[in-house]
Amino acid sequence: MPHLISPSILSFDFANIQRDVELINSSSADWFHVDVMDGVFVPNISFGFPVIDAVKRHAKKPLDVHLMIQNPDQYILEFKKVGADILTVHYEACPHLHRTIQAIKEAGMKAGVALNPHTPVSVLENVISDLDLVLIMSVNPGFGGQKFIQNAVNKVATTKKMITDNNATALIEVDGGVNAQTAVDLIRAGADVLVAGSFVFNSSNPVQIIADLKAVR
Ligand code: DX5
Ligand code: ZN
Repeated sequence: MPHLISPSILSFDFANIQRDVELINSSSADWFHVDVMDGVFVPNISFGFPVIDAVKRHAKKPLDVHLMIQNPDQYILEFKKVGADILTVHYEACPHLHRTIQAIKEAGMKAGVALNPHTPVSVLENVISDLDLVLIMSVNPGFGGQKFIQNAVNKVATTKKMITDNNATALIEVDGGVNAQTAVDLIRAGADVLVAGSFVFNSSNPVQIIADLKAVR
């Protein structure tokens, strides 16, 4: 399968949401990456349901929602209602992770689990076959535009091996500091989905940057 690109809407111009959604619609991107931050799990607050609902009304591609929040269980149905297609929770925020994964699937969404940079991949050994997505954080979550943590490449390779050894089907997504250089290492290590925020939207030609990331081999 060719890898997927999920541009992060955290880098949108929020005064022009419809324009930026249509830019992604017209590009070779595959998903919209939607970062939700609660100011508790991470030291930043991004946006909530009304913004996601607005994006969904114009989006022609799936919404890949990354929850950086405590108690995600409380809001699973609400995220389904505003249009999430893939819902990813943090391992570090879920004491009953297996139950949370099942609840996301029962609500009719694909289920993902994200790992902070310090969290080893091995914590997912007993749920890997239940997952649609593993999200490897290559920065500490909370902000766009941070420097890539190189160890994420090793974690992608370890995750790939765990998936293969278990005959599992989860996709491996990487989030934070992705650019033309880091993308090459990640794809070679086995990443299936690349999130990119500032690299795409700080450029003068986001559609071309997305095409470039899509073409990485
Ligand atoms: C960080 C977010 C990322 C962020 C990536 O907490 O989860 O999705 O938007 O931004 P860049 O690509 O600028 O590192
Ligand atoms: Zn994210």
